[in-house]
Amino acid sequence: AGPETVSPTGAPTGAPQSANGQQGDFLTTSVGARLYDTDHSLKAGERGPTLLQDHHLREKVMHFDHERIPERVVHARGYGAHGVFVGYGTAANVCKAGFLGDGVETPVFVRFSTVLGSRGSADTVRDTRGFATKFYTQEGNFDLVGNNIPVFFIQDGIKFPDVIHAGKPHPDREIPQAQSAHDTFWDFVSTHTEATHHVMWNMSDRGIPRSYRTMEGFGVHTFRLVNADGETSLAKFHWKPKLGVHSLVWEEAQMINGIDPDFHRRDLADAIESGAYPQWELGLQVLPDTPRQTFEGIDLLDPTKIVPEELAPVQPVGILTLNRNTTNFFAETEQVAFHLGNLVPGIDVTDDPLFQARLFSYLDTQLSRLAGPNFNQIPINRPHVPVNDMLRDGFHQHAVHAGVAPYRPNSLDGGNPFEAGVEDRPFVEVAQPLPKAVKTRQAPTSFADHYTQPRLFWLSLSPIEKEHVVRAFTFELGKCYEQAVKERQLRVLANVDPVLCEEVATGLGLPAPSATVRPRKVTPSPALSQVGRTWPTD
Ligand code: HEM
Repeated sequence: AGPETVSPTGAPTGAPQSANGQQGDFLTTSVGARLYDTDHSLKAGERGPTLLQDHHLREKVMHFDHERIPERVVHARGYGAHGVFVGYGTAANVCKAGFLGDGVETPVFVRFSTVLGSRGSADTVRDTRGFATKFYTQEGNFDLVGNNIPVFFIQDGIKFPDVIHAGKPHPDREIPQAQSAHDTFWDFVSTHTEATHHVMWNMSDRGIPRSYRTMEGFGVHTFRLVNADGETSLAKFHWKPKLGVHSLVWEEAQMINGIDPDFHRRDLADAIESGAYPQWELGLQVLPDTPRQTFEGIDLLDPTKIVPEELAPVQPVGILTLNRNTTNFFAETEQVAFHLGNLVPGIDVTDDPLFQARLFSYLDTQLSRLAGPNFNQIPINRPHVPVNDMLRDGFHQHAVHAGVAPYRPNSLDGGNPFEAGVEDRPFVEVAQPLPKAVKTRQAPTSFADHYTQPRLFWLSLSPIEKEHVVRAFTFELGKCYEQAVKERQLRVLANVDPVLCEEVATGLGLPAPSATVRPRKVTPSPALSQVGRTWPTD
């Protein structure tokens, strides 16, 4: 038998439970009664019907019948590992978060994922990859829920159901990657042109990473940081893999999907097991917190835009090492619940409308995926610091809360944990009064430029990377039935770059349209090119 079960508040909850699976001297029922036979049901005679009174049979089958929980509505296919994050202390001038302090070690759990495939889908498909990290800091959990692509398809979270409906298999046949699913995806992104930048990254080699160990990660949104003096900055989070950025080529990706659909999870688990611990350096692009929240003309609240690293270098602030595989996939990888609202003092949200919708969505989905409001009591989600909340009861409540006064202010149960009249402080205090709010569904005009950065990305690629992008567009659009969809996407590509458009059009056997938007002049960014992009050696 394993250790005694301890409630999230530290109080013992009763019976000891086996932490190691079936390794005791004998099997028991779920309430500890010794079993003598788990191989034969209780019957009325050797050849007779099974008796309803066989509680063990009913419990065993009942539990099996309910082993599955809903897969995540997106990012269903994932793989996780434990590790440690060590701060460099270099962020102190901009961020007071304790886990970034010099030499501070923080346990972490990371879950990598694809976005669109179901739980049993293949690893090396062309897709965005999730890179979600839970830091169990001394100030509570901080979740950095990012992707391997620094921009997103949409600028406003209200479009998330649309983009996912367009990318998931068609509801009629549920055939992933079916020709019809290509039509819906390209139909959406060719009409919703703010997706163009993300699509360019997806069609590049970044869409088919070689290994989770060779992927970058990005917080995507702009966050607000605050230092010990209360000064604020805006910032973007970056993970840079110590092994450098490497991708598969399309033919490899397709073959591996058939030969070993678990390629990425096997690669990560094997590397960790053999002691080849993967590492990523966490870096920050720090930007001034101006009232307009722009930098060099780039709207920092627009998640379809990057800030080129030439304009704002990524400054290293700590290092992540993954050094322990999971003990149980379900308990850890499947039940982990990330949330962007899990922040620590020194890191705060911004008004990016995508960010804001995410703050709602994750809590909401976990309420049903993990069956009730107590999912932060599941071991993988528990913080490594004491919890003293006033949340009570609900499905799957594991704590045995003592006392009578889960409210404040109170004068019982040891009194009020806060001074009378002191309100909870936001992590960042608003310096100036907010302008009078006006309700609107409009987006800022600065969100309207959908082509400058896709063009910057394209022009930053090497010739072979460009060839891969052309071949990816040609292959994917070639799977569309609808001629009108292909033609519309070609018009989008014409606005990105005439050469890109012409080469894809040639591959599809269609005429290349002319641009309808005059391209802005951009300077190619070597940091966006991935070939030869490796970790700077010490
Ligand atoms: C799951 C990233 C946008 C809703 C995830 C996961 C990642 C991620 C990494 C997997 C978490 C895990 O491993 O458990 C991102 C990024 C986004 C983005 C980087 C844009 C910058 C959105 C938006 C919404 C959304 C706009 C909704 C409005 C969800 C939901 C899940 C999820 C519902 C499933 C969570 C769960 O079941 O625990 N996302 N996402 N995401 N995302 Fe996002």
